[in-house]
Amino acid sequence: MRNSLTGEEFFSGHHLHATMNTIVGITGASGVVYGTRLLEVLPGRKTVIVSEEASRIAQVELGMTESDIYALADRHFTNDDMFSPIASGSVKFDALAIAPCSASTMSKIACGISDNLITRVAAVALKERRKMVLLMRESPLSSIHLSNMERLACAGAVVMPASPAFYPKPKSVQDMIDFVVGRVLDELGVENRLYRRWSGGAEKVTGSRGSRRIRR
Ligand SMILES: Cc1cc2nc3c(=O)[nH]c(=O)nc-3n(C[C@H](O)[C@H](O)[C@H](O)COP(=O)(O)O)c2cc1C
Repeated sequence: MRNSLTGEEFFSGHHLHATMNTIVGITGASGVVYGTRLLEVLPGRKTVIVSEEASRIAQVELGMTESDIYALADRHFTNDDMFSPIASGSVKFDALAIAPCSASTMSKIACGISDNLITRVAAVALKERRKMVLLMRESPLSSIHLSNMERLACAGAVVMPASPAFYPKPKSVQDMIDFVVGRVLDELGVENRLYRRWSGGAEKVTGSRGSRRIRR
């Protein structure tokens, strides 16, 4: 697979990640496509859990069923399966990415609530000091959201808002999705060329006030 902006293969050093074991949680925020795209491009062993609300939103936004999403991963568990092996800290995984992450799931994790498999795996990731990336999608944010996000960042989680940048000059919605997902891969430690990185502002653009440099 090639990137539509750079024309390059998505991964360099792909083999380095062949043994990576990642859990992807998809929760009921808008942007289920972030989760499905992540599953498409993530190397290694992929396990997916889809919340009930995410499953309904997937149908609305993408016309995808739960089974369609499961087909993108090596294995799946239902979100009520608290007897799943991954609910225990004794079972190793390298990283958890929740994409998209609803404000509700983020807040539950920040408060130590483990009432479904996704929030339980997140609690495990925190207590076992494993990599956890939450790709939040909510706007605007209340002070409750912000303080919960701060608690998570202090506890070691990577909290990312799903916000595409415009300096790579996206030409399509897909480019914008790939920017966000590429940044998630970066945080997971997966080398990728899913988006065009900032190269120092050598390019010029013409705006209403004439030629100006693109700023980050
Ligand atoms: C169409 C639709 C879009 C939604 N978008 C968002 C969103 O972008 N962010 C968010 O935090 N919640 C959103 N919600 C609300 C969550 O789905 C709701 O809080 C749900 O309880 C989250 O459950 P979950 O985190 O277990 O999936 C949306 C709900 C619907 C029906």
